[in-house]
Amino acid sequence: MKNTKDLLAEYRKEALLGGGEKRIEEQHKKGKLTARERLALLLDENSFEEFDMFVKHRSKDFGLETQRPLGDGVVTGCGRIHGRFVYVFSQDFTVFGGSLSEAHAEKIIKVMEMAMRNGAPIIGLNDSGGARIQEGVVSLGGYADIFLLNTLASGVVPQISAVLGPCAGGAVYSPAITDFVFMAQGTSYMFVTGPNVTKTVTHEDVTSEELGGADTHASKSGVAHFAMPNELECLDGIRKLLTYLPQNNKEKAPIINSNDDPARICTLLNDIVPQLSHQSYDMKAVIEETVDKGSFFEVHEQFATNIIVGFARLNGESVGIIANQPLSMAGVLDIDSATKGARFVRFCDAFNIPLVVFEDVPGFLPGTDQEWRGIIRHGAKLLYAFAEATVPKVTIITRKAYGGAYDVMNSKHIRGDINYAWPSAEIAVMGPKGAVEIIFKKEITDARVVGGDPAALIKEEELTNEYRERFANPFIAAERGYIDDVIEPSETRIRLIRALKMLATKQATNPWKKHGNIPL
Ligand code: HXC
Repeated sequence: MKNTKDLLAEYRKEALLGGGEKRIEEQHKKGKLTARERLALLLDENSFEEFDMFVKHRSKDFGLETQRPLGDGVVTGCGRIHGRFVYVFSQDFTVFGGSLSEAHAEKIIKVMEMAMRNGAPIIGLNDSGGARIQEGVVSLGGYADIFLLNTLASGVVPQISAVLGPCAGGAVYSPAITDFVFMAQGTSYMFVTGPNVTKTVTHEDVTSEELGGADTHASKSGVAHFAMPNELECLDGIRKLLTYLPQNNKEKAPIINSNDDPARICTLLNDIVPQLSHQSYDMKAVIEETVDKGSFFEVHEQFATNIIVGFARLNGESVGIIANQPLSMAGVLDIDSATKGARFVRFCDAFNIPLVVFEDVPGFLPGTDQEWRGIIRHGAKLLYAFAEATVPKVTIITRKAYGGAYDVMNSKHIRGDINYAWPSAEIAVMGPKGAVEIIFKKEITDARVVGGDPAALIKEEELTNEYRERFANPFIAAERGYIDDVIEPSETRIRLIRALKMLATKQATNPWKKHGNIPL
């Protein structure tokens, strides 16, 4: 009879092989890594503490009692990233297609609970055929237990998902609740119903990649925050993202000092806003010039490109950036950009990351499409998110701050702490041309009657210039204290760093409530 030591060695060897060499080879042929190879790349070297290597499923149906692989299709445990603890699970497609059994779910739940108890992020690497079909409803119960924990952990510890293979049916809802979803181009897909059912129901011919691949979710649906060219870059991306985040909702993000001078003058910013207010410029260049060199890490880059969100550092401190992008649809707010911005603001607020807003917004996008699809309630999400956020909040108005969008983009009225405007700022109900067409309709019509169209045009131009001079500047708002100062663009970095220092001791709370009712 073998002694326990020999058995242990044998069991470990067996567990490390997952579904066996042939299936590992098949996994590699698909351009995918195994569950353990992924963890080795994700975690600091030799930092992985594995749990539950010897867990087996308890199913007795459809011949499963004769196939009881060690670990049951998921590798779980704790490791470190840049020296800080994280809890992880990595589904092993080589074992029953990574499908989720009762025991597989219990392993995931164990590490999720540990992450919450010990205040560390939880990272899930998903590669699974979904519910273990042979286990039926028990497997569905396992999913629901995970969804519950995803919900309870939301806002307590950062939750990050990488989808590195199939993720279909109800299984998609675990990554969907987590804070950030990474996908690998060409080898991963997510959908509630796959191409076959789609074909039957809607007669659409669509491939898995088109329906739910990385690019689709990163650009069309917004389900994925990052579409990476391969698994390696997904895992690297997760490591990078974590450098901006605290371990949990009671801590602050780590300070990572760069060599960038906090007193650096950003000369490039003085001329970045074009003379003509309908001309565009790249707000990403403004962000990159302002923050610590090379520290901007964009989130949701391909989705709703009229708003930019991402992390950066200012004098080493992690900040969340939300910025209108004049290069895309003139930076107008619409349904997708409002939703994207709101979710990011709420993440930062939940995890004590100060918010920095760069504002150049002509308003909300008009039209039946937006109105009928509910720009009112979706736009309200961004307003609600900024208003309820209690972290330090600083706004820089670079140019347009028109209409309701002025209020929404972290104005002083909704508890923006420090709001600065560049001299090029235009803070008004709307642009000069639109305003004149409404308030001077009679004068323009009269000019048309007296001198014909040329006279009307001259009159309109006169009135527009008058309106522009009176309102398209930062001084009316400054007169009222709606902005705290008009600053030289080149001083933006210095002033932001000072503002954040000033606000480091900020104390703000919201009235007691069970939870608010954000317009979903
Ligand atoms: C049990 C599964 C499985 C599953 C795959 N396998 N999915 N075993 N339960 N859900 C097994 C296969 O039998 C096979 O075993 C091995 O995993 C690899 O699968 P292949 O089909 O050979 O791989 P591939 O060709 O790459 O196709 C992958 C796949 C396909 C597209 C994921 O396997 C598939 O369609 N699976 C079923 C998907 C599904 O319908 N799941 C249930 C969804 S409903 P062997 O022994 O041959 O290697 C759901 C509800 C969740 O998940 C609800 C939550 C609320």
